[in-house]
Amino acid sequence: MIVIDQVSKQFKDKKQLVKAVDYISLNIKEGNVVGLIGENGAGKTTLLRMLCTLIAPDEGTITIDGDNIYTHKEKVRHRLGVLFGSETGLYNRLTARENLEYFGSLYGMSAHDIKNQIEMLAKRFGMRKYLDRRVEGFSKGMKQKVAIARTLIHDPNIVLFDEPTTGLDITSATIFREFIYQFKGEGKTIIFSTHIMDEIAQLCDDIIMMHKGQIVYEGKLEELYETENSRDLNYLFTSKIVRGDLYV
Ligand SMILES: Nc1ncnc2c1ncn2[C@@H]1O[C@H](COP(=O)(O)OP(=O)(O)O)[C@@H](O)[C@H]1O
Ligand SMILES: [Mg+2]
Repeated sequence: MIVIDQVSKQFKDKKQLVKAVDYISLNIKEGNVVGLIGENGAGKTTLLRMLCTLIAPDEGTITIDGDNIYTHKEKVRHRLGVLFGSETGLYNRLTARENLEYFGSLYGMSAHDIKNQIEMLAKRFGMRKYLDRRVEGFSKGMKQKVAIARTLIHDPNIVLFDEPTTGLDITSATIFREFIYQFKGEGKTIIFSTHIMDEIAQLCDDIIMMHKGQIVYEGKLEELYETENSRDLNYLFTSKIVRGDLYV
């Protein structure tokens, strides 16, 4: 269980203070696929960056299975897989396998474990054919697969993706969605931000709607549909924001 308790983060932007995340509290259960939506500037990236210990909150605490993520950084890092944007972070001059080996070694994995994990991921993502080719010649879709494999090399049980399909073509976006679909029900917790309501509708158990650093709605997607008597997420999102239906 991930527990976010009264977490806030401000930034100074041209001498003005911006409340990027404004005292939010959330519980995220293990094994759920959680969609994070909100307009640009809502605070999604800031929240995800705090969750993976890239930045520290000004106030509040985040714990994963009872461990404060800032005092147990190393432990938490091993449990998390993170992919920000559609930037793959891969080294073009290395082969797919070398990239995966490199990232595995950063987690202190043994050569044996890295080899086995690469085998499993290559099979899973259909990457065997190009595992030993340099990444520089890869299509966006192939790179995306290697990037997803990279986030999974150390077998994390929580995976965070910040707008993983933004800027991707249809094929690469589909690859990503298929991946989430495959992982549903395998006990991994997946949290991803997106602007695409269909992705939420197809893939998520839970939804977090953010607006101006606050949470506008958080809970089961099915419950939202039921209480609001609509399955139109675009409509529901807009109306939650327009009505200012904040319950934080
Ligand atoms: N490093 C930063 N410096 C200054 N302002 C920032 C920084 N990061 C985010 N912000 C501001 O915080 C707010 C939330 O940003 P962000 O978390 O990126 O939102 P989202 O990912 O939902 O688009 C925005 O107003 C943004 O301009
Ligand atoms: Mg963002």
